[in-house]
Amino acid sequence: MSLMLRRRLFTIKPMHAINQTVLDEAVSAVKAVWPNAKPAFGIILGSGWRDAVSGFAVKASLSYSEIPNLGKTGAPGHAGQLIHAEFNDKEVFVFQGRRHLYEGEGWAPVVLPVWILKQFGVQTVLLTNASGGIREDLGPGSLMAMSDHINMLGGNPLAGPHKPAFGDRFPDQSSVYTPALRSVLEDAGASSGVYLATSGPTFETPAEIRAFRALGADAVGMSTVPEAIFANALGLQVAGLSCVCNWAAGLGHETLSGEDVIRTAGEAMPRMRAAIEHFVKEVQ
Ligand code: HPA
Repeated sequence: MSLMLRRRLFTIKPMHAINQTVLDEAVSAVKAVWPNAKPAFGIILGSGWRDAVSGFAVKASLSYSEIPNLGKTGAPGHAGQLIHAEFNDKEVFVFQGRRHLYEGEGWAPVVLPVWILKQFGVQTVLLTNASGGIREDLGPGSLMAMSDHINMLGGNPLAGPHKPAFGDRFPDQSSVYTPALRSVLEDAGASSGVYLATSGPTFETPAEIRAFRALGADAVGMSTVPEAIFANALGLQVAGLSCVCNWAAGLGHETLSGEDVIRTAGEAMPRMRAAIEHFVKEVQ
């Protein structure tokens, strides 16, 4: 075997380790356009959540294609724009749409919004998503405030050479979701629960859902956990809000589809909108 081939086969490369330069390029681009923005909050909207901020006053918006290395969202129901908005006299950055690990471009585009928020001085981030309900009381249309998560993504965005800018080498995970923020979401009608993330893009099998229930999962989805891990490591306060859009595989009668997820989110929109507005009003 040639030395080159041997090197290629046996050099251990950390899978998808995040390159900080890639993240910083994006921050510079947003700062060049909005040098004076001082958002108090960041919100990252998941599948079907786009219209939940329709009551916010939009000051300006940027398409993801204008933010280097963020790229186009490939998931349905993700608008792919960053809006600089105002609600209740508070300045907010809202990422309308997220990137997912299953889109195949690694961790950087997935966690990039969190890095941008951190560099703009944001201390609190609200992460939203759509999920499948596992717990009996979490049927389609329910809102779940994330109390904790189970990472079944098959990897971790912090894997790779340690970068002090990303926090500790071994970040504590005992309270990723800030309890006081969760209480605010509960006041807005969400019940607390544990979210389990798989990498997708397949929905789960019924056997996987039985296993996940036994592990303590209340809802399942394909996102949010990377951003929560990264935001927690960066010292941000994190809230997670899930719209349960279907019974998880094997628990309902229907086959699952991305279109149905978006449709159910549309039906639950008044509650989703009210929860986000309550959150922005109540959290300092
Ligand atoms: N599984 C995974 N992700 C999801 C689901 C589901 O049942 N529903 C919405 N997103």
